[in-house]
Amino acid sequence: MTKRPKVTLVGAGNVGATTGMWLMARNLCDLVLFDVVEGWPQGKALDLAEAAPIFGHTVSVTGTNDFAETAGSDVLVVTAGSPRRPGMTRDDLLKVNNDVISDVVTRAVAVSPEAVVIVVTNPVDVMTFVAQRASGLPHPRVFGMAGGLDSARFRTFLAWELGVSAKDVFGFVMGGHGDQMVPLVRYSTVGGEPVEKRLSKEAIDRIVTRTRGGGGEILQLLKNGSAFVAPAAATAEMVEAVLLDQRRTIPVVAYLNGEYGQQGVYVGVPAVIGKGGVEQVVEIDLQPDEQAAFDASVAAVRGPLAVLGF
Ligand code: APR
Repeated sequence: MTKRPKVTLVGAGNVGATTGMWLMARNLCDLVLFDVVEGWPQGKALDLAEAAPIFGHTVSVTGTNDFAETAGSDVLVVTAGSPRRPGMTRDDLLKVNNDVISDVVTRAVAVSPEAVVIVVTNPVDVMTFVAQRASGLPHPRVFGMAGGLDSARFRTFLAWELGVSAKDVFGFVMGGHGDQMVPLVRYSTVGGEPVEKRLSKEAIDRIVTRTRGGGGEILQLLKNGSAFVAPAAATAEMVEAVLLDQRRTIPVVAYLNGEYGQQGVYVGVPAVIGKGGVEQVVEIDLQPDEQAAFDASVAAVRGPLAVLGF
């Protein structure tokens, strides 16, 4: 029997467990849920495993508080940490999550040295940098989830405005996963036609603003919780791209080594994702105003990196 790939979800909270659900539904890999809270990952895993017969799926789903049981993972998805609470900016989370990420990534990679690491914990651009440093892995093997989610939100709002299916709306978002993210209107299309031909500037500006505040909008409605279904779906899509070596072009948090005029920083850019992680950072042409918006977004990522001493 062929050995199924093994994916460990480091952090079995809302995003981690829901990523497990999306992955289980794909029948793609065995899953291990890891969390610091005793009983929690075991309970979440049991709940997931009990749904498998309904789908007719054969994956193994287990939960643990012991990194030894995560050994030999092909992909590590890191969602451990504290979510953003109302009134907190993503950067408020910085110091708490820095310690958590350094610790869990060091211990997880020690037993899964061949793994690709996908970071979800916020502020994700900074935490991906922290994770790469802690892991000692090559930069392409460590990347983060943000653009897939931001782009999905952007596409959703564009589709609603146009009254068409989001399936045929293409759009992507670059830059840091924060209020300065850069939705690229010029490259956004519906059925191949630029959205700018179909929508007024006023409508597009409104959608860009809503996309930038997409996480905050949900936070405000829920009051005591943050988005997790769409974040988990975007994460599962990235895991699938790695496991199946799909070479999908997806916006991810990738390391820049001179691309877009930036050096030594992790930030959202389109990239080809395959079995080695980031196979290629895709450099699209930016106009001066887009480059300026991207640079401002990168500057907003460099600030907290400096706070952490990087
Ligand atoms: N080791 C392992 N697990 C930990 C640790 C640790 N040191 N510290 C916290 N955790 C676990 C918590 O016990 C919890 O189960 O991380 C999990 C986080 O889950 P939630 O609080 O439900 O947060 P979630 O909504 O899943 O978001 C996780 O993803 O999108 C981002 O901003 C979000 O940074 C947040 C992360």
